Amino acid sequence: MTDSGTGLSPQIRILPGGDQRLLAEIGVVDPNSLDSYRKAGGYAGLRRAVEKLGPEGTIDEIAAAGLRGRGGGGYPTADKWREARSASGDSKVVVANLIGADPTALGDRALAEGNPHLLLEGLLVAAFATGASDAIIAVRRDWTVAIERLRAAIIEAEAAHLAGYLVLGTDFSCVVRVWEGAVALVAGEETALLAALAGDRGMPVIRPPYPTERGLGGAPTTVQNGETLAHAAWIASHGAKKFRAIGSKEAPGTKLVTVYGRVAEPGLLEIALGTPLADIVKLAGGGTGTTKAVFVGGPGGGALGADQLDTHYDFDALHAAGAGIGLGQFLVADTDTCMVDSARFFLDYSAREACGKAVPCRIGTKRLVETLDRILAASPRPNDLLLLRELSRKMSDTALCHLEARAPGPMLTTLDRFPDEYRAHAERGECLAGACSGTAVAPLLTPLAGL
Ligand SMILES: Cc1cc2nc3c(=O)[nH]c(=O)nc-3n(C[C@H](O)[C@H](O)[C@H](O)COP(=O)(O)O)c2cc1C
Repeated sequence: MTDSGTGLSPQIRILPGGDQRLLAEIGVVDPNSLDSYRKAGGYAGLRRAVEKLGPEGTIDEIAAAGLRGRGGGGYPTADKWREARSASGDSKVVVANLIGADPTALGDRALAEGNPHLLLEGLLVAAFATGASDAIIAVRRDWTVAIERLRAAIIEAEAAHLAGYLVLGTDFSCVVRVWEGAVALVAGEETALLAALAGDRGMPVIRPPYPTERGLGGAPTTVQNGETLAHAAWIASHGAKKFRAIGSKEAPGTKLVTVYGRVAEPGLLEIALGTPLADIVKLAGGGTGTTKAVFVGGPGGGALGADQLDTHYDFDALHAAGAGIGLGQFLVADTDTCMVDSARFFLDYSAREACGKAVPCRIGTKRLVETLDRILAASPRPNDLLLLRELSRKMSDTALCHLEARAPGPMLTTLDRFPDEYRAHAERGECLAGACSGTAVAPLLTPLAGL
């Protein structure tokens, strides 16, 4: 079932306001019609890349736009495309990462359901620029609406010579297919995704070599987040200068952000990168209580306190605050929210989702949860607060992938910013937020049910 206005699954609610660029077309363009997409200017970017810019010119345009990956790392997209293009290999691959590992991030799903041709166009632009003849859209298997629409879009695009053999009558050919991936946090990590695509267990492997050098079946492979590809299509069509008209110098363009928790209007926003955190809360109708913190970046992100809400929402500022942009998750916590319990929720999620390959991750995340449980039960061991930091540092130092390196983030940032809440729980069994009553359940997170 989908919403009759937007054509999206009902749990995806697009909020008005912000700086809508990608979201502006959802509900306007018919996701089941190539004609409708083309009438809105669709595939002009692919045409411009193929007929005018050429592969190097396309990469230059993406570089001039300053596009950075929206899948969490913020890596410059043009650099990745150059690495893949210059890597030696008879065949090259591009992969659209639509695993949407964290279900509280709605952006990629909204794009895949609401405007599948935009993603497909971005993927084809990436394939053309990097010299790939094989393109895979890896989609979380429970996104059934997205899968159906993407498959239909590929068929339509092939029939119109926009995908497949001899695209637009040129010698550029690229076969595109949809692959249904696992519903798991680690499944979105690029090396785990490539392992699963190759038929192995979806577990990360050590980098380097990076996928652009040796990826799927040994071929240079460009893995790109879905939203990144949508922006790439937009840039190919509208140009770098227009792209930079929104956003900051170091982080141009917009970002899809899913706001939830203690706000009046939870939902999906598109905002200019560099927007202050306080403005994002306001765009979601404002806090329902007195905002105490926001958790950005989901289980691999971190918390910023109310005194930091003037921080700009961009890759570098959030990283500097010990958090990260992740897939655009933005959870608002108020004064009735326990920071220790919230940190436990995120850590427990990472511990359950750890694939088990790296021992420090498999054991470390569980030990951290157990330590938090002792603190929450007011029966800590003497050095438990110290242990949280020590163990986290060791996990980051030895991490095989970023799930492990970043899992302690929500805990470490709350420990730094709300030490009193940890001490009150540990020493007196008191929850300063008045939220915990002996059970370690985060009431804040119940709105997540059903996402
Ligand atoms: C645990 C974990 C889960 C991830 N899940 C996703 C995901 O669901 N979607 C995604 O695009 N990137 C995800 N990533 C990041 C990818 O590894 C990779 O950096 C990204 O797809 C590259 O695309 P980008 O440069 O466009 O951001 C995840 C990383 C980690 C460590």
